[in-house]
Amino acid sequence: MCGIFGFVSTRELPVALVVDALRTLEYRGYDSWGIAYATSEPVGERLAVLKQAGRLPQTLPPLPTSPIALGHTRWATHGGVTDDNAHPHLDCRATLAIVHNGIIENYRPLREALEQAGHHFRSSTDSEIFAHLLEDSLQRARRVSESTFSGSPGLLVEAVRQAFAQIRGLNAFIVLHLPSRQLVAVKSTSPLVLGIGTEGVFVSSDAVALVGHAEQIYYLRDDEVALLSPQGPRLFDRCTGELRQPQWEPLTLRSADTSLGGFPHYLIKEIHEQPHVIERILRERLDGARQLAELIRHSYGTFLVGCGTAGYAALCGSYLFSRIARRHVNAVIASEFKYQEHFLTDRSLVIALTQSGETVDVIEAVQAAKRRGATVAALVNVTGSTVARIADFTVPLSAGPEQSVLSTKAYTAKLAILLLVAHILNGSDHVGIDVLWRAIDGMELAFAPATLDRIRAVAEQLVNAEHCYVIGRGLSYPTALEAALKIKEVTYIHAEGFAGGELKHGVIALIQDGSPCLVFSPLDETRPDILSGAMEVRSRGGWVVGISPEPDEAFHVHIPIADVGDASPLVAIVPAQLLAYELAVRRGLDPDKPRNLAKSVTVK
Ligand code: AGP
Repeated sequence: MCGIFGFVSTRELPVALVVDALRTLEYRGYDSWGIAYATSEPVGERLAVLKQAGRLPQTLPPLPTSPIALGHTRWATHGGVTDDNAHPHLDCRATLAIVHNGIIENYRPLREALEQAGHHFRSSTDSEIFAHLLEDSLQRARRVSESTFSGSPGLLVEAVRQAFAQIRGLNAFIVLHLPSRQLVAVKSTSPLVLGIGTEGVFVSSDAVALVGHAEQIYYLRDDEVALLSPQGPRLFDRCTGELRQPQWEPLTLRSADTSLGGFPHYLIKEIHEQPHVIERILRERLDGARQLAELIRHSYGTFLVGCGTAGYAALCGSYLFSRIARRHVNAVIASEFKYQEHFLTDRSLVIALTQSGETVDVIEAVQAAKRRGATVAALVNVTGSTVARIADFTVPLSAGPEQSVLSTKAYTAKLAILLLVAHILNGSDHVGIDVLWRAIDGMELAFAPATLDRIRAVAEQLVNAEHCYVIGRGLSYPTALEAALKIKEVTYIHAEGFAGGELKHGVIALIQDGSPCLVFSPLDETRPDILSGAMEVRSRGGWVVGISPEPDEAFHVHIPIADVGDASPLVAIVPAQLLAYELAVRRGLDPDKPRNLAKSVTVK
C-alpha cells in the first residue's frame, strides 16, 4: 500500500514535482518517503537519492531540476521504518533506482542467491531485491547480443521482464535507468497509471497525482511493460515483446477535485461533499442501477462483498434488498469470501463494493468468482482500477477522489445505489428516487450549526474516552458497525459496534459508570427495542447519546437527524462521521492519515 511516482522529460523539470506528487499519494502510506533523480556533475551524471523515515516534512531544502526522477511514500511491510529501508533502492552500481508497491513473496531465497553472487544490500526490505535482480538481468541481457523481443524494446525492458518473472506476489515497480535516462513500469495487480502531457511522461500509483501534468492517461495492464523515454511511452507485451497500441483516455480529474477546497482536512471536505455525490448519482447512475437490477433479477444467488466500510455497506445492502424488494442477497466480508465460495455457480452474481478497486481481498474474491463462472459486477469509485477491469459490469460511484484514509462519501454513495437498485427490483423506482432526494436534505441537517454544536459537545465529553460502544438494530446495525469503525480508525478510541439485541448476551457486562454508548434509533420498527436497550445501558451508568429524529428519556444527549425512512443509514452516519472528525482534531491526530493505515489495502 505504497505510493509510487515518476517522470521523464526532454527538458529539466523541478524535482519538487515528485515531492508534490508524493504528498498527493501519501494517503497510500506514510511511514517513510524518498526520491531519486539524475544529476549532472563535473565527473558526469549520477543518481541523487534523498530519503527518510517518517512523514514528508512540510518543507524541504531547495531541490534542483532534472530530466528524470521518481519517488515513493511507504507503508512498511517487510523491514522496519528506517532511513535505509525507505525507497528508492539502488543496485550495486548506483545506475538503477527502483520504487515498489507490493510484497515480493519469495524474497528470501532470491536475496540469499544475490548475496552469494556478491550483491551488497543496504536495507532489510524485500523491495531492494528487485534492484539487484535487475542489475543481474541487465548484465545477462548485455551478454545476449540479440534481444529476444521482436519489437526490439531493448535490453532494459528485456532485463525488467526477466527480473519480474522471477518474483512472486502482487507488485508494481517503477525503475529509473540512469545510463539511458529511461523509466520502466511493470505491475501485477497493484495499480499503475501512465500519463502524457506537455511537460513529459509520467507514471503513478493513482491518477490523482497526474492532475496538472497529464492530459491523457492509460491504466497499465498486468501483462504489459511500459518503457518511458523523454520522447514518449512505448508499451510491450510482457510475454511476447510485441509492441502494443494503448487506448489512451483523457484525464478528467481536475485540481478542484483533489484540492482541500478551503477545508482544513480531506475528511471534513469529503463528509460535506456527500449530498452532492448523492445528487450526482441521481442524475448519472439511474441507468447503471437499472442494469444492475436486471443482473440481480436473473441471477440465482447474489453476493455483496467488500472490506471495512465497504463491507458494512454490503451488510446494509442485504437489509435494503430484504425490506424493499423482499429479495435475499448475501453480504460477505471479502477476506472471508474465498472460504465459502464453494456454492458459487455460473448463475451466481458477485457484486464487489470497493472505493479504490485495488483492495487485494476484493480482487481475490472477484477472481475466485470468475474462476467459478459467476458474473461479477462492481460498485467502484476508481473506474480504471483492477476490480473495475475484472468486473463484467460496473456502476461508478460518482464520488470523486476520496483522499482521506477514512471512507465517507464512497460509503453513502454505495448505499444510495443499493437503495435505488432495491426499489427498481421492487418496481418502485420513483419511491427510491424521492427518498434519496429527501436524504440529501437530511444530510444537510447534520451540518446545521445547532446539530454541529451538539456533536462538538459530545466530542468534548469523549475526548479522553478509552472505549465507546455503538448499538443499532435492523438497518441501523450496519450503521453502528460503520460508526464504530470511523471512530476507532481516526481517534484510536476502542469503539465497538453491536447489534442492539446482543446487549444482554454479554456485551452489557462492559458497561460501567460513564461508559459512552451511541444509539441509532430511526423511527422504524426497531425503535421500541433499541430504546429499551438504551435504557438498560443508562440504568447501569452508561452515558447515552441518541442519534435519532426524536429525543427520548433514555438519551443524555440527543443528536437530531431527519426521518427519511429506508434512507436512514445515509443520514444517520453523518453525525458519526462528524463526531469522529471532531474527536480526532481534539485528540491532536491527523484526520486524513491515521497511524498504521493506508487508503487502499493492496497487500494481505
Ligand atoms: C474505511 O474508512 C477504511 N479506510 C477501510 O475500512 C476501507 O473501507 C477498506 O479498506 C475498503 O477499501 P475499498 O473500499 O477501497 O475497497
